[in-house]
Amino acid sequence: MPTDREHLIRCLPKVELHLHIEGTLEPEMMFSLAGKHGAKLPYASVEAVRKAYAFHDLQSFLDLYYAGCDVLRDRRDFYALAMAYFTRAHADRVVHAELFFDPQTHTARGIPMEVVFAGLRDAMDDAHRRYGITSDLILCFLRHLSEEDALATLDAALPFRSELTGVGLDSGEKGNPPSKFQRVFAKARSLGLRAVAHAGEEGPAGYITEALDLLHVERIDHGVRCDEDPALVERLVRERIPLTVCPLSNLKLCVVKDLKQHNFAKLLRKGVAVTINSDDPAYFGGYIGENYRAAATALELTHAELVTVAENAARASFMPATAKTSLLSTIRTEAARA
Ligand code: ADE
Ligand code: ZN
Repeated sequence: MPTDREHLIRCLPKVELHLHIEGTLEPEMMFSLAGKHGAKLPYASVEAVRKAYAFHDLQSFLDLYYAGCDVLRDRRDFYALAMAYFTRAHADRVVHAELFFDPQTHTARGIPMEVVFAGLRDAMDDAHRRYGITSDLILCFLRHLSEEDALATLDAALPFRSELTGVGLDSGEKGNPPSKFQRVFAKARSLGLRAVAHAGEEGPAGYITEALDLLHVERIDHGVRCDEDPALVERLVRERIPLTVCPLSNLKLCVVKDLKQHNFAKLLRKGVAVTINSDDPAYFGGYIGENYRAAATALELTHAELVTVAENAARASFMPATAKTSLLSTIRTEAARA
């Protein structure tokens, strides 16, 4: 990649909108937490873990991802996990991050909801003090489980309502349409929570339409299959609905065969508010900076396009309006200098 774009990517203030905090569990931390808790891992070494990260679809990844979560047991574990993420994010010039977390993965193992919230909150506070990074929490419902389970999870999170910015929907998409979660999203929105959902990653474009019309989400996570429905693409442009795209994730989970064939640039050039994010960086081979670099190289994104992507993320965030305006101005200043 030309050095000017490399320099721009390093300098651009970034907003991360699609990041599963459990997906930042690096193999080294997996081993050290397993040692701490006397937990057995099905791997002999860190290298063996990395070798096992050869996925052929979303489910083959999710199986390892949920198994890895078993080492996260106490408040300090969640703190260490999130702090390690913030340290890497700071190195990539992330200034604001909206973190997904999957409480059902933890409560099902007997980890109390307050342990998860407390550990993440400690790290979010420290990241603000140490690095100036602001952050929000988005509670994701696991779509392979029932809506009753999601409703019970939302109820269990109510004592921590003030710590939450929104709700999301993740896990295995095929056969688990957004329509399954209409009541829980309606309840979350009635509580003033913002709403997002994974849709159109492996599932059809129709799931994106459902997420918009039935769950009333403000952003679509992934959404790359939208171009199977040209009218939907036009709608995304017209209604300025952001897509939180994760290029390296799409490559690793075989959503695309080659990054050169990714529709990210095509959508950007049509005027869709696409953003670049890392999804589960410990599993997919790169944090947000690497995702910017990989997309820029494969798709020959120009200087102006990279700036637009960073601006799209700032606009699509749930930051307060004044912080957004100020960040947009910083992005423009840095871009002009780079
Ligand atoms: N949970 C963690 N990463 C995910 C992804 N890419 N899609 C759906 N659920 C997930
Ligand atoms: Zn995701």
